[in-house]
Amino acid sequence: MLLSSIVSTLVSLTGAVLSAHALAVSGPGPTLPVQARDSDPSLVLTPAGYKSAGNVHQVPHGATVSHIGTDMHVTDKNGALLKIVPGPVGADARAATRTTSSPIPAQTGWITYASWVNPNATLPIKTFSADFVVPEPPQVYTNQTVFLFPALLPVDGTSILQPVLQYGSSGAGGGEYWSVAMWYVFDGDYYYVTPLVQVSSGQSLQGILSMVSDVGGYYTYTTSMSPVTAAGALTVNIWVQLGWATLTLEAYGVTDAKSYSAGTTTFNNILLQTTAETSPTAPSWSVINDEEDGITTTIDQAALNGKGVVVINY
Ligand SMILES: *[C@@H]1O[C@H](CO)[C@@H](O)[C@H](O)[C@H]1NC(C)=O
Ligand SMILES: *[C@@H]1O[C@H](CO)[C@@H](O)[C@H](O)[C@H]1NC(C)=O
Repeated sequence: MLLSSIVSTLVSLTGAVLSAHALAVSGPGPTLPVQARDSDPSLVLTPAGYKSAGNVHQVPHGATVSHIGTDMHVTDKNGALLKIVPGPVGADARAATRTTSSPIPAQTGWITYASWVNPNATLPIKTFSADFVVPEPPQVYTNQTVFLFPALLPVDGTSILQPVLQYGSSGAGGGEYWSVAMWYVFDGDYYYVTPLVQVSSGQSLQGILSMVSDVGGYYTYTTSMSPVTAAGALTVNIWVQLGWATLTLEAYGVTDAKSYSAGTTTFNNILLQTTAETSPTAPSWSVINDEEDGITTTIDQAALNGKGVVVINY
């Protein structure tokens, strides 16, 4: 990603954050197990913002989502076909043509994040992992939703694979507690999410994203949140390389600093390796902050070799 696009991401991020703050969130509706935006109860919250509930597909632990032709096939851990989701009309037959106009971070409530873009697509990211501890609950709960996650995106940012720690409610469910789910978002319109698993403050987590294979540009990636997802990782088969790594705080319905946990959240033991089985030494992480909120990310150890440390300061 060029510096100019990082700057434009930052500029549009600020706008997105302001509008995310302005959203009035109502309680659970009669049919939706999730918060919906007042103005349109058919919308539910995802880590890519408020989206049509019909586009959020619950998939079981261990599921695989495969782009086949223009469709997406959902299979269970034994390979049995569960669902075929028709993809964007008029998309390239490989479903590699995406229509989302701006990257996901710019469209949604990303508050602050560390960002690393692979400079060499011939050496794809093979592994990206980070350890973190489930924080204390936010100091005040006013139905806000907080997401914390490592993620991999294609460099154009139009899709995302992420093991997500969530406080509050989303299209996956949830409430006044911490919970974990794996998400795959494609083209701003297709959301696949595994069952939420409740976790407790103080519990250690490891978010893991791995490239399993690259067969002629058809990539298999998995994501899991150890040890919560022992029941199975989420796997995707996609026609795009995921070359952009982030460590992200995303939030909706926040009012002030008390909407977050007190103190800091630290991503430890950050490991990023390419298919060469080595960790790049350059570039370093860059940081995108929403100055207005006063929430910042700092890079304590820029290393990608399993010793990296990135801190979110509330
Ligand atoms: C949170 O949601 C509940 C359930 O809809 C509602 O009763 C309560 O007033 C909401 N709280 C705030 C602070 O918005
Ligand atoms: C990218 O990686 C390939 C494979 O190791 C290497 O041959 C090439 O020189 C690298 N390109 C750059 C710009 O570093």
